[in-house]
This record gives sequence, structure tokens and C-alpha cells, in this order.
Amino acid sequence: MTSKEIRSQFLNFFKEKGHKIVPSAPMVIKDDPTLMFTNAGMNQFKEFFLGNSVAKNPRAVDSQKCLRVSGKHNDLEEVGKDTYHHTMFEMLGNWSFGDYFKKEAIEWAWELLTEVLKIDKDCLYVSVFEGSKDADKLDLDTEAFDLWKAIVPEDRIILGNKKDNFWEMGDQGPCGPCSEIHVDIRSAEEKAKVPGASLVNADHPQVVEIWNLVFMQYNRKADGSLEPLPARHVDTGMGFERLCMVMQGVQSNYDTDVFKPIIREIETITHSKYGKDEEIDIAIRVIADHIRAVSFSIADGQLPSNTGAGYVIRRILRRAVRYGFTFLNTKEPFMYRLVNVLTEDMGEAFPELKEQRQLIENVIKEEEYSFLKTLEQGLVLLDQVILNVKGKEVDGRKAFELYDTYGFPIDLTALILSEKGLTLDEKGFELAMQEQKNRSKSASEISKDDWEVLSSDLEQEFVGYDMLETNVKLVKYRKVTSKKAGEQYQLVFNLTPFYPEGGGQVGDKGYLEMPNGDVVYILDTKKENNEIIHFTKNLPADLNGTFRAVVDKKQRERTQANHTATHLLHQALREVLGKHVEQKGSAVHSKYLRFDFSHFSKVTPEELREVENFVNARIAGQLPFEEQRNIPVEKALEEGAMALFGEKYGDTVRTVRFGRSIELCGGTHVKNTGDIWHFKIKSEGAVASGIRRIEAITSDAVKDFYAENDRVLLDIKGLLNNAQDPVKAVSTLQEENAKLKKEVEALLKDKAKNLKIELKNELQEVNGVQFLAKKIDLDAAGIKDLSFEMGQNQDNLFLLFATEQNGKALLSCYISKELVGAKDLNAGTIVRELGKFIQGGGGGQPFFATAGGKKPEGIDEALAKAKDYIK
Ligand code: SER
Repeated sequence: MTSKEIRSQFLNFFKEKGHKIVPSAPMVIKDDPTLMFTNAGMNQFKEFFLGNSVAKNPRAVDSQKCLRVSGKHNDLEEVGKDTYHHTMFEMLGNWSFGDYFKKEAIEWAWELLTEVLKIDKDCLYVSVFEGSKDADKLDLDTEAFDLWKAIVPEDRIILGNKKDNFWEMGDQGPCGPCSEIHVDIRSAEEKAKVPGASLVNADHPQVVEIWNLVFMQYNRKADGSLEPLPARHVDTGMGFERLCMVMQGVQSNYDTDVFKPIIREIETITHSKYGKDEEIDIAIRVIADHIRAVSFSIADGQLPSNTGAGYVIRRILRRAVRYGFTFLNTKEPFMYRLVNVLTEDMGEAFPELKEQRQLIENVIKEEEYSFLKTLEQGLVLLDQVILNVKGKEVDGRKAFELYDTYGFPIDLTALILSEKGLTLDEKGFELAMQEQKNRSKSASEISKDDWEVLSSDLEQEFVGYDMLETNVKLVKYRKVTSKKAGEQYQLVFNLTPFYPEGGGQVGDKGYLEMPNGDVVYILDTKKENNEIIHFTKNLPADLNGTFRAVVDKKQRERTQANHTATHLLHQALREVLGKHVEQKGSAVHSKYLRFDFSHFSKVTPEELREVENFVNARIAGQLPFEEQRNIPVEKALEEGAMALFGEKYGDTVRTVRFGRSIELCGGTHVKNTGDIWHFKIKSEGAVASGIRRIEAITSDAVKDFYAENDRVLLDIKGLLNNAQDPVKAVSTLQEENAKLKKEVEALLKDKAKNLKIELKNELQEVNGVQFLAKKIDLDAAGIKDLSFEMGQNQDNLFLLFATEQNGKALLSCYISKELVGAKDLNAGTIVRELGKFIQGGGGGQPFFATAGGKKPEGIDEALAKAKDYIK
């Protein structure tokens, strides 16, 4: 069965059991401050498990793109070394949101595996949570145990500990016992030798977990205790690539049709062979895995960068490049050449890949180039470290510096050292690494108290599209503490006019007014698990009171002018540059807007002007804001609304239209484009290969910008004696300046010529050497020219010139080449020695050297000593 067929069999099986097939959420998470990447199928449903919202469909099924490379679930360092871990993988899942529980989950899983997919029952083992004696004091999951006992022989049920059989989303939140299904794909002979049950959860490559059925029934609180959830849920996750391995009768995920074509391509490009040498195999697996993670992330809009999610992607890509560099001898970019075959394989199931192939290739190629350069530089630096090493061991801190500052991989350092018969002080490296981790951890650590819930009215309403102030009641609050922001409170209201940060637009600020006139300021607003959270420094005195919630109107108005202008800019860029332009990032602040988009060359000044004119024409056209809330996504797309790759849209969406610009958007906007007043581009530049960035301003900021320009112009006019035409006046000045420069140059040349003649007459013959030591009024470059010119017409020359400029002294020594050899003279040594008189130092070559110093009073003494060298 092909992987495509396996995926659709899974989805259809659960569809027939009343589940709704839902699309994968993006792999890169944009609007969740707690998570950078989707690391489990359940992420996109967190709000239902937490009880913040009620799911429209209580049963769902999907195949979710996941990435496990950071935080609690991190497999990165394993990947490639074995044959069944991945950074990016697909997780097949069926979901019950407060609907069915353990019985159906277990029976259906078994039915699908053994009856539909026809996996041999004798290959399967299941595990059940054995309970825990620690603070949680949990009993054996007898409910699951009894359900399994009715289906499989008891010797195939394995009791598992908390690590393997209790699943938690994070340090806090929903969790519960789980039952895993493991498959043993060893040969009959192997099975006869060692029983499969003993290899479950023992990191055996042919006895692997394929499916995890999680029964969410508890909530983990901030103090570590558990409380039962009001509704119980099912969250299952099956590793798609592992299932394909089982179904296709192969021994490794990398031998399935999911990976084979990529591996073939790597072999062709790098002239290597998979399956002959373990080191080469690991490198090929690393590359085959990582190209997927990186390509899918870029398709989701996450470019490699130096911070956050972008940095994780950069590290994954670099890991692959480095494996190629070390084991496959790839010294040129090559990963980008794999994007084509990946797109051919997966582009049907994930069209975002197909549509953005060119961009993905460009970005990867550029990254590869720059990292290969880093590797080369690192090799040079490492050579220096090796040259200076005392003994056989290289200081771990030095290696850490290479790793941390220059991105030079530590395993490569270790490899090179061992090739040179040296060792690495690994402890020192680990220590330096740990110190750095502690520093960044304590800076980013946040501790969150449990929510204090005041009302059961958990469905909140955002009313900020229609009003900027309203009466609200507090539903729940908690204290959060972080090094960065100190102590803060997070408040959730029954309704709110505050826009939570999202879609690039910043969160609203404002205040809460109490009945007695007291005020609590709202510092920021964000969305987390579908809840709108308001950040304050203090709590209202009377938590049960009714507060007037008031949004900072000025900031909101400026922000929404920038948001509407962003839509118009997007439209303008597609009109002026072409339809290949796609939004790749957007930041909408009150003071400015920033827009990243795909485009493969610099936007010319003429194009920028055209874009500005396009936007300003629509502002002048006073286009009204037209909005549709809660319309089906299909209808919105039919109407031509622009959707973005990597953005998660619900079944129903909101469209925002101004004239012919129509976008799916949750942000806030002006009522009429006339409110934007004016649009001005401030800068255009590259962010990455194929991605450009425009920064622009609108409304008041443009007024300030022009006012500032006006002021500067007035000042310039003042300096030009109030010239009527300052441009002409400046250009006249420039012409005059150029003419004067020429005259000065000619005069200086004359002066140098005269000086040369004068100095030639002053040369003294001492022991066959033409000697002169003198203070002259030229700068360093002038002295150098003069010395060399004199040297052209005079043999056996020894010159020591000194000059004083801006309170500093300069000595410059010229010695004819024939003297350097014959008399063993060295200008470098001489200036270093004479430099002492001017409290300075310097150096150069044997025939010409200079020294600078801070004591011009010492010049005469230095000049007087010069003759000693030739006596
Ligand atoms: N949440 C569980 C996991 O990620 C099952 O989907 O393994």
C-alpha cells in the first residue's frame, strides 16, 4: 500500500465512525506565545481540552504536520542516528472532545490496525499505565486494562510507567494516562530468540511504538497537583512514517516511499551510496529528514533567522549541511536541489510546497552558502586554536567560543581534533554551555499561578470591532512572574473591546476604570488558547465589580490606519510587481508598518513610487470598509479573498474589503481609507534571498515626517543664505568645491615637488648612506608617497621623517632595499625602538615602517637618535 493510500484509509475509517476530517494546522505556530511549532496533533485543539471553547464537531480526524525540535518534546539529536525518529513527521490522530472515551478509542484502534490495515495481531503489543506511587498517587488504569484484555491475550499487555504511559501537554494543563500500541517487525527467527514483550520501550529499531491513545482526564495545576477535568477527551497520535514502514514490510522509515525518492536524489547529487557505511547512512538520513522540516517551515512562512523559531530552523538546516560537509564531502550548496523531488512527492497532499518551491529553494541555497562560509572561517580559527594548544587537550571554553560566536559545530571540532591526535576538554565545553543555558533560561523563565476562576461564564466575546469601551466583568485571573516583565497579572473578561495581538497587529493598550474612579492600566493584550488575556501590573481592588474597559483610542486609530494601509500595500505590490508577490510577514504597530513579501530582485525607486501612488490613490478615493463576519471559508475564497500560507483559518472567517482589495483578516481597520490621510514608504531592502521588506508610515507619522523634512529644508536654506532655489545653490557649491579641490591638489603636488628638491639637497652622506632625519608637514600618506618617490631617484637612502598632527606624533622610516640586505637594517625594528621616544609603537616591513605615538615632544629626540643606526 502506498503512503498516500495509507493516509486516506486512516482518515476514511474515522470519517465512517462519525469524525469530521479536518486539515493539518500549520507546523509553525504564529499566535501562541507558549509554543513555536506544532509538536503534537493535539496542539490545534488545546482550547477544547482546556475547556476554553466548545468544539463544533465533538469528533475529528486529521493528519498533522509536526516538528519535535524544541521544548518538552525534542528529538533533534536522535534524528538520523536511528531509523525511526524524525524532526518533522505526520501524526495521524482521531479526537473526541468530551464525547467517546477509552472503550471506543481502544476498540477502533484495534479494528483499524488488524481488520482494515490487516496488520498481523501477533506482531502487536499494547501498554497500559501501571499507576504511580509518587505525589500523584495514581492507580493502575484498570479501565484500559480490562478493555484490552477483552481483545488481546494478557501476555501482550505491558504495564508502563509514567514516562511512557502518562501524557502531559506541558508543565501545566490537561493530561492523562495513555495506552500505546507497539509493533514488532523482526523476523520469526529473531522473535523466537527474544520475546517481543521484553523489547517494548527499549529503543529497539524493529520494536517500535506506532500509536499513542491518550485519555485526557486530569488537569495539572501550577503546584503540581492533579484535578479531574470536567469533560474527558481522547487524543490519539499515530506516527505516519512508522505505520508506512509496517505496511510496506520494510525495516526502517527511511525505506518507505515517503523517504526513498529523497534518498535516491541525495545519492545522485553527492555520489554516495545508502546502506553500505553507517556514518554515511546517518548523514543521508539526517539530510533526508531535515530537508522536509526546513522546506515545510519555509512554506509555512518561517524563514531561517537568528532568533526564536527562525533560529531553530537555521540550526536544523545547519545540522544537515554539516553532516553533508563532514561525511559526504559536500563543499557546495546541495540541499536546495532536493526540494524538487520533495515537492513532487508531497506537493499533492501539501500544496503549499508546490506553490512556493522557488522560494524554498532560494532561501535554502542562500543559507547553505553562508553556513559553508562560516565553516571555512571556523576551520581557520580552529587551526589557530590548534597551533596555540599546550599539551594534547584543547580548552573546552575555546571550543565553546567557536561554537557560540561563529556557529562552528562542536562535533566537527571534536572530529578534527581527533584527526590531529588531540582531544577536546568536553567537560569544559559542557560547563560553558550549561552556564549559557542557565543565563538564557533564567532570563526567559516564566512562572504562572493557577487561574483563579470567578465565574463559570467562560465563553468570552470580542466586541472591539464595534466599540472601544464597554462595561466588563472579570471571569478569571492569575499572577505570572518573569525576569523580563517582573510580576504581572493576566485578566480574562466576559467580553472585551481590547484587540489581542494577532495577524501582525499589536495588542491594544488602555485602562480599566473602577466605579470609584480608580484606574488599572492594561499594558498589553494577547490571545492564548482562544482566550483574550489582558496584562496589568495591579489587580483591581474589587474583583467582583463591574469595570469600564477603555481602549487607548489614539494608539488603536494609528494602528488600524497602518493595518488598512498594509492591505493596500499588498494589493499594490501584486499590481505593480506581479502576482508572484505573497505576504511573508507583517508587523502592524501604531508608529509604522513592516511588510515582508516574496520578490526576487530589488524594488526600483520607480516601482516604489508607483506602489506609493497606487496606495495613495486608494486613500484619496475614500474607499469604505466592507466586512463580512463568520462566512464560510470556501465562500470567502470564491469571492477572491487572499489567504496566506501557514495561517490557520477556521470553518468560518472574516473578510475585509476596501475596493478591490479583499483579505481574510481578523484585524481592526479604518472605516474609510480617507482616514489614513497619506502613505509613505520609508525603506525597502532584503530580508533573505527572495524576500523583500518594506517599512512605511501613515497618518500622523507622515505628518511628522514631512514636518521634520520641512524643518531640515528650512535649516539648509538658512545655511545657504535663504537661497530661493536650494537645489541649485547646493549644486553650485558642489561645483565650486570640486574646482577648489582640483586647485588644492595641484598646489600640493607643486609643494611636494619643491619639498623633494629641498630635501634632496639636505641629504647627508654617512658611511656610504644617503641619510636624512627631519620633521616635515605632511600627513602619513603624503610622507609615504614622498619617501618612495625619493627612493626611485636615489640609491642607498635612509629616511626618517616625523610629523605632528592633532597632538599625535608619527615616525616613518624608509630604507633602500639594497641597504636592508647589505647593512642588515630593518625599518620595522627601527621605528619600534624610536617609537619609545614618542610613547608609541608600530611596525611594517624592513624597507618601510611607521610608528604612531602620543608624545610629539619626543620627536626631536627620535630624529637625533636615527643616525646611530648607520654609524
Ligand atoms: N498527544 C499524544 C502524542 O503526541 C497523542 O497524540 O503522543
